[in-house]
Amino acid sequence: GGGGGRARPLEGRHALVTSGPTHEPIDPVRYIANRSSGAQGSAIAAALRALGARVTFITGPATAPPPDGVRIVAVETAAQMLAAVNDALPADIAVFAAAVADWRVAEASERKIKKDAGGLPELQLAENADILARIARMEAGRPELVIGFAAETHDLHEAARAKRQRKGCDWIVANDVSPGTCIMGGSENAVTLITGDGAEDWPRMSKAAVAAQLAERVAGHFALQAA
Ligand code: CTP
Ligand code: CA
Repeated sequence: GGGGGRARPLEGRHALVTSGPTHEPIDPVRYIANRSSGAQGSAIAAALRALGARVTFITGPATAPPPDGVRIVAVETAAQMLAAVNDALPADIAVFAAAVADWRVAEASERKIKKDAGGLPELQLAENADILARIARMEAGRPELVIGFAAETHDLHEAARAKRQRKGCDWIVANDVSPGTCIMGGSENAVTLITGDGAEDWPRMSKAAVAAQLAERVAGHFALQAA
């Protein structure tokens, strides 16, 4: 792939983007979830599309609308998201913006759990596979540029740097999700981009502007590759 004019620098590139929360069932009517709206992931998919990439958008049950012009794969659980990511490969760019549930209920009940069963239900949890780390550490067919997110409430820079190393991804977009920042569910974001060259604090801006700037950086990476 590659090439294309200045306006569509990602023409011929395939980007996959994960987005939104995942829902992990407890029983047929209940689930474990988180506060992700999917807004940042949708904006990134739209921004990559705008630069000419073909985009596969793998989304959990998000409240933000998906972008136009992308292939949408709707999933519910982390396990389904991992399978959808594997199905979408190969890709040149993979952006893991989803707030994947870290844990699922080990054995979801097939029947609604009732109060009259006596006592309190005990939820046995199991850890979900780390989708980002799996893809970043692929031996063959790894996307050239693997970008993760880091949602932190404290020690943002240090935690994000450590996360980049641990997961083996190329870049990390780190954001502070402490209560009061209004990031999760809000329309703005304040991020730090961690690359192999160090950390850059970006000013607080709209999620659309973060996405546009990130897409430009992606295009810059591929332009350098081609030069
Ligand atoms: N991620 C993933 N699969 C998981 C968990 C996380 O792909 N099962 C991805 C997220 O999409 C994000 C990155 O990993 O790009 C970091 O997610 P985060 O929740 O910040 O990190 P964790 O490794 O889950 O660590 P913790 O939640 O304990 O901080
Ligand atoms: Ca997590």
